[in-house]
Amino acid sequence: MSQELFDKANEKLSEIEKYAVNNAEELEKFRIAFLGSKNTIKPLFGQIRHVDADRKKEYGQLVNKLKQTAEAKFTQLQGQLAQSAAADIEVPDLTRPVNADRIGSRHPLSIIEGKIIDIFSRIGFSLSEGPQIEDDWHNFTALNFPPNHPARDMQDTFFLDKELALRTHTSSVQIRHMENNEPPIRVISPGRVFRNETISARAHCQFHQVEGLYVDEGVSFADLKQTLYYFAREMFEKDTEIQFRPSYFPFTEISAEMDISCLVCKKEGCPVCKHTGWVEILGCGMVDPNVLENCNIDSEKYTGFAFGMGIERITMLKYRINDLRLYFENDVRFLEQFSHIIP
Ligand code: DAH
Repeated sequence: MSQELFDKANEKLSEIEKYAVNNAEELEKFRIAFLGSKNTIKPLFGQIRHVDADRKKEYGQLVNKLKQTAEAKFTQLQGQLAQSAAADIEVPDLTRPVNADRIGSRHPLSIIEGKIIDIFSRIGFSLSEGPQIEDDWHNFTALNFPPNHPARDMQDTFFLDKELALRTHTSSVQIRHMENNEPPIRVISPGRVFRNETISARAHCQFHQVEGLYVDEGVSFADLKQTLYYFAREMFEKDTEIQFRPSYFPFTEISAEMDISCLVCKKEGCPVCKHTGWVEILGCGMVDPNVLENCNIDSEKYTGFAFGMGIERITMLKYRINDLRLYFENDVRFLEQFSHIIP
């Protein structure tokens, strides 16, 4: 009887060792047959009472080995199945070039602001910035807007209280800079400005300007013209022409507005230039002596010129954008169009 039991156990052992599975169901069959609560090894343990006394120990070791082998085999088969499942997953072609991450783009106004700063810095202008909340003195009075003067109505102002307002132009930075610096002064001041306007394609309640200021002994209108001529050709095209028209600003005397020849039609006449061949891009003039004196600069000794331009307007001309609202809507379909421009 003993030998028969040994043979049975050895048979089972080789059955387990040879076992192979192809899928999860077959693995489950293995588990039920050899490890489940009604497994086929269990009865062999009970048979030990039929084994001759001198071979009981040997038999005990054999059936224990059977159990351990079944457990080890199960783990091994499980591993094999997992591996072949992984192998079935399609491996991507790792040599393919990657899709570049979308890194976003610069806002067109930032691109143009950067270009303007770059152009003026090449001829010795440095940056000077001021606050967006401004007092009456810096935004109006020191710029020669007398109290209650109708010129204050040229710009619809967002007042915060009696004394403070959102600045309506970057000309306020002229005053701050002249109050704190001695001539020679050569600065540009880019920044955001605010006006109480109804939002439309052609007007907005917030926009950006770049102010320019040059104060020294003997600065003339000819210097102003040459500086702005240089700017126009650098910013637009080499053959861009400029023209000046008389104008009025309280803080300049004489005052002018500058046009550039229309980039779109080359002065043939088109909707962009309203068929005039010219497009206005900035206001400028010789700094009014009162303004110099308000900042404690001797107007007998020094003269200066100033100019102010809208960044939105220049960006519109450069990139043919026809609606101011696009700048502030953050629509990626608009913004993405500038991703190829590396400033
Ligand atoms: N501050 C003016 C405006 O916002 C623009 C301007 C005109 C600035 C003439 C100047 C200047 O410095 O000289 O409309």
